[in-house]
Amino acid sequence: MKVVNVVGARPNFMKIAPIHRRMQASSSFAPILLHTGQHYDEKMSSTFFVELGLPQPDVYLGVGSGTHAEQTAAILIKVEKFLLQEPADLLIVVGDVNSTIAASLAAAKLRIPIAHVEAGLRSFDRSMPEEINRILTDSISDYLFVTEQSGLDNLKKEGIPDDKVFLVGNCMIDSLVEHLQKAAELDMLRQFSLFARGYALMTLHRPSNVDSRENMRKILRALEKIQSDMPIVFPIHPRTRKMLTVLGLDDDMAKMSNIHLTEPLGYLPFLNLMSQAKLIVTDSGGIQEETTFLKIPCLTLRENTERPITSELGTNQLVGMEPEDILAGYEKAMNGFAENAQIPPLWDGLASKRIVDILQQVN
Ligand code: UD1
Repeated sequence: MKVVNVVGARPNFMKIAPIHRRMQASSSFAPILLHTGQHYDEKMSSTFFVELGLPQPDVYLGVGSGTHAEQTAAILIKVEKFLLQEPADLLIVVGDVNSTIAASLAAAKLRIPIAHVEAGLRSFDRSMPEEINRILTDSISDYLFVTEQSGLDNLKKEGIPDDKVFLVGNCMIDSLVEHLQKAAELDMLRQFSLFARGYALMTLHRPSNVDSRENMRKILRALEKIQSDMPIVFPIHPRTRKMLTVLGLDDDMAKMSNIHLTEPLGYLPFLNLMSQAKLIVTDSGGIQEETTFLKIPCLTLRENTERPITSELGTNQLVGMEPEDILAGYEKAMNGFAENAQIPPLWDGLASKRIVDILQQVN
């Protein structure tokens, strides 16, 4: 089976890596790794290939940044051109980024079957570009691989036939399980002069947070208190770095001397820091899941989540953007909120095996 495995942006790499490598090791599959180039900085992209044991992409489309329409359209055109030259038996997309919907759409029009990994997640917030990407990708996919029960429920409500849908667990957790030991061998604490469980780790990149001066100022106000209690390490996304300057907030950030800004970190250094932190503050999707698996308290600076199991069973609290709500969540987190959290069913490091086994059986 000739399979095109598509990646584009940072959170895609750790989801595709375990699937691609299993396919490489099987005589039933001839996997091709296609990178759209949505993320292109070394620290947002190539570092991850090396750390995750992924080969260099077989195809690199180099689409880069742009408006949503520009980026999505550029990927659509280039993926179609590639698929016309190299007809495939299956195209696999992961997650909810612009590369996910654009590559799927190209394949759907060419009648190439599509597998969507991380299907069925819904925030029910259509102001998020990812929500549009999720709904559209699921509606044209042939195999929908789901990470949690809410995904099954959502797809049923949307009328997707049951025989296309498979609860398999979480490929991002497969990568985490595989790399945790290697990450533990790094000495990141010394690099930042930290103690285990004595610091917070933060990521922030969602346009609804970082493109708004009002919201950024609210978040900074809450951080002021947290950083007075413990150091905060903040590997900063290129978009966020740019926006701090555009919004005139560089000085407000610099004033908080216990916040350590760094370049985006690689997968292993970030995993090392995440697994030893006292607290994670984030607006990422995947980090809500990784902290649930690691049983580290997580404050998610959003009003909703497409991954509800992380707050139902896991260590996640949705705290929004209001400083008092963030700090109330912080107090709870410091007072043992996450102590009885559980790891969701099938988040066991074997999701990619289930996916590859299913694809082998049905083809
Ligand atoms: C994308 C995904 C988002 C995901 C995030 C993880 C979409 C709609 N969004 O958001 O779901 O959580 O990736 O990081 O697909 N930039 C660089 N270097 C890079 C990449 C981006 O400097 O390598 C800057 C550019 O200014 C670019 C901006 O970041 O315009 C945003 O990049 P883009 O790919 O549009 O979306 P992300 O915010 O990264």
